[in-house]
Amino acid sequence: MANMSLSNARRQKVDEFYTQLSDIEKELGHYTKHFKGKVVFCNCDDPETSNFWYYFIVNFERLGLKKLITTHFELDKPSYMLEYEGGIDARGDKQAVVQKAIIKSRKKPLKQNFEQGEQGVLFTNEPTRSMSGDFRSPECIELLQRSDIVVTNPPFSLFREYVAQLIEHKKKFIIIGDVNALSYKETFLLIKENKIWPGVDNGGTKWFQVPPHYEIQTESRKKVENGIRYFSKGSIMWFTNLDHAKRHEKLVLYKKYNPGEYPKYDNCDVIEVSTYKDIPVDYDGVMGVPITFADKYNPEQFEILGIANSARWIGYKCCTIIGGKKIYNRLLIKKL
Ligand SMILES: C[S@@+](CC[C@H](N)C(=O)[O-])C[C@H]1O[C@@H](n2cnc3c(N)ncnc32)[C@H](O)[C@@H]1O
Repeated sequence: MANMSLSNARRQKVDEFYTQLSDIEKELGHYTKHFKGKVVFCNCDDPETSNFWYYFIVNFERLGLKKLITTHFELDKPSYMLEYEGGIDARGDKQAVVQKAIIKSRKKPLKQNFEQGEQGVLFTNEPTRSMSGDFRSPECIELLQRSDIVVTNPPFSLFREYVAQLIEHKKKFIIIGDVNALSYKETFLLIKENKIWPGVDNGGTKWFQVPPHYEIQTESRKKVENGIRYFSKGSIMWFTNLDHAKRHEKLVLYKKYNPGEYPKYDNCDVIEVSTYKDIPVDYDGVMGVPITFADKYNPEQFEILGIANSARWIGYKCCTIIGGKKIYNRLLIKKL
């Protein structure tokens, strides 16, 4: 019984893909000014594998960090917290640097999953808050409260809950998610209210390292380099509530409005603009644009009013149907 539960639990580890250092460097370089004197928390990051942890160790002094905390989730063994306050020579071989930093850190076991049974662990099919290192566990929430900025790639399967917790605790963050998260009601409302926004290096495909046992169905989405397996994910987006320069870049508009080229949806006074490049410079009404416009959104230039598809809408009453033909998801926006 115990073994069956254990293998069930292992099968649950479907979010095991690790962000590459190059992607982290590309994004975090845009936020340097925000880190000085701050406590950074990577709460889905095993220090043995996480490039987020490694990035902050290597850049600890340059960024002027106060502290770096990391916790990670374990289903079948106890997990632990590390607190690093600098002080190692972080040059040279990566694995050696990681080990030096681990030794230099204050280490504390996370005890949640030991409170449940004699063996210490009682597995269920669903990861629960009481498992060691779960970002929702009381110990990890306490660490969150002591932190200033959370930076990680959290489990996509818990993205809504993850963001809700950050917002509830009023934390600054830079995290990775799926572009589809833009159209989750919860995420969309936060974007509409300018409480969160896309980061800088968005869209396109990114490659993530995966463990040897990880199953990848599609041939074109896997590769092996130097014996390391990678899995590609399209439509990846950074989400943040820290300001960055790209968010204030003005979209240059050049097209002129004409009713023939910009049809209206059947039951609302909203024009269809099928690519953000075609947003007419001289149209002041409401427009439906592809969801990926969020990546070009400058709150000084546009207002986001709602989100809609052919059957549903949030924020602004409109369904995206033209002449009976269903149009894909649209953000409903207006120039300011
Ligand atoms: C997409 S992976 C990214 C790992 C790492 N942050 C990185 O970018 O390389 C998400 C990680 O979250 C972990 N995870 C899954 N559920 C979790 C939970 N409830 N609490 C904390 N971590 C969790 C997974 O084990 C996995 O390692």
